[in-house]
Amino acid sequence: MKNIVILISGRGSNMEAIVRAGLPAKIAAVISNRADAAGLKYAAQSGLPTQVVDEREFSSREASDAALATAIDRHSPDLVALAGFMRVLGGEFVRRYSGRLVNIHPSLLPAFPGLHTHRRALQEGVKVHGCTVHFVTPQIDHGPIIAQAAVPVRVGDTEAILAARVLQQEHRIYPLALRWFIDDRLAVDNGVVRVSGADAIQALLADA
Ligand code: GRF
Repeated sequence: MKNIVILISGRGSNMEAIVRAGLPAKIAAVISNRADAAGLKYAAQSGLPTQVVDEREFSSREASDAALATAIDRHSPDLVALAGFMRVLGGEFVRRYSGRLVNIHPSLLPAFPGLHTHRRALQEGVKVHGCTVHFVTPQIDHGPIIAQAAVPVRVGDTEAILAARVLQQEHRIYPLALRWFIDDRLAVDNGVVRVSGADAIQALLADA
């Protein structure tokens, strides 16, 4: 059975969706860079090992990345899932977990990498918005795309309304993408992820 380590910084609703999905894998640990991350409570209540590695306690990015890697590697992870982990990771760290480090981003990448994606989507007047699960590479929010889900942008949407609509889809596609990884259905070919199996595209276009 594959081991998954989940990294969070706050609310942890994506982590919760992954746990609730009952994937055929072991959630080996939930690690946060903030001791007050609300998601830690849910993880602990679910009986999952939790740990805090706060980068502010280290003198350099290299030192905190190394401490984080040590905490992660204790669990021999096959997969490290960033779930609202609000910290930019160094190139060495990203390379160490190459091919087994994934993230969820609240936009249809490559549109709107970075922060405040919903606000920017509204400002640009895009008619379709969404979320992306992707492999992490040293270039932030740019790795090979595993799964996406689209939602309409409606007249009268506020940032909060749009965020909630996207978040619902995040909770649907993140566990799905992890399941594909667990089932060895993903292959990366020249930066493009191929998902084997006929259900892949259909699953992503449902109820957008
Ligand atoms: C999500 O929108 C995720 O896409 C982004 O940060 C938010 C985290 O939410 N990276 P949660 O902590 O999973 O509830």
